[in-house]
Amino acid sequence: MAATIIDGKALAAKVRAEVADEVAELGHVGLATVLVGDDPASHVYINSKQKMATAAGIEAHDHRLPGDMSQDDLLAFIAELNADDSIDGLLVQLPLPDHIEEHTIIEAIDPAKDIDGIHPYNAGRLMMGRPTLVPATPRGIMRMLEEYEIELQGANAVVIGRSNIVGKPVALLLLQKDATVTICHSKTQDLAALAAQADILVAAIGRAKFVTGAMVKPGACVIDVGINRLPDGTLAGDVDYAAAREVAGWITPVPGGVGPMTIAMLLENCLKAANESAA
Ligand code: GUN
Repeated sequence: MAATIIDGKALAAKVRAEVADEVAELGHVGLATVLVGDDPASHVYINSKQKMATAAGIEAHDHRLPGDMSQDDLLAFIAELNADDSIDGLLVQLPLPDHIEEHTIIEAIDPAKDIDGIHPYNAGRLMMGRPTLVPATPRGIMRMLEEYEIELQGANAVVIGRSNIVGKPVALLLLQKDATVTICHSKTQDLAALAAQADILVAAIGRAKFVTGAMVKPGACVIDVGINRLPDGTLAGDVDYAAAREVAGWITPVPGGVGPMTIAMLLENCLKAANESAA
């Protein structure tokens, strides 16, 4: 039996509408996005974030800076945005050019404005089970699992990928919901066998169609975080969708699954930051 398709696009539209209502109620929410250099994928992501934020009534400032700017200049720019009371949420798009240290920039963002939830203060609070701002993709995944009433307590959850922005935080959130969590990565032995035991399988590796149908447990919930551009220009997730949907109980499509949820939850984080600064 083919899987239930988790409609991230529809759920994201619902979340964005709720955010828009609350933004209108609050009066003003300000977002600043910072993009350094000319990575084409980053420009596409920032365009979508800007468009969706504006549509939700958020005042979105779009800063695009030259790829050869110095780290000190970027730090000075972030300090200005930190000090600007009209900015509630501040996002620096990753990756940054090689001459700029990612961790130095992330640590310079005011944790209260860190709507990506990647400042060590917010990451540490998440680990302690006392979250403030939680990364948007993991929150979007949890929201989809909740909406489709996927049982998490005692479930075997396998996360493939250990990034700070997806793999590690989603593992912590699943653990908070009493799942038994395994994190797999490029050095994991017998990854296919571990994946095949997962009731919840989260694929966040960045390799097109890495998860085959044989790696999916019958009836499992498969969450595909990947967005990979194939040589023919089409998009593919980290999961072989056609094969996996024949085996899984639930599955997220690419596009139309995790991607739209990430942006919706980012806007929700911006609203949260604004509410907390107003409190
Ligand atoms: N680059 C890829 N994904 C993300 C994200 O969620 N946030 C930021 N800031 N950069 C990214």
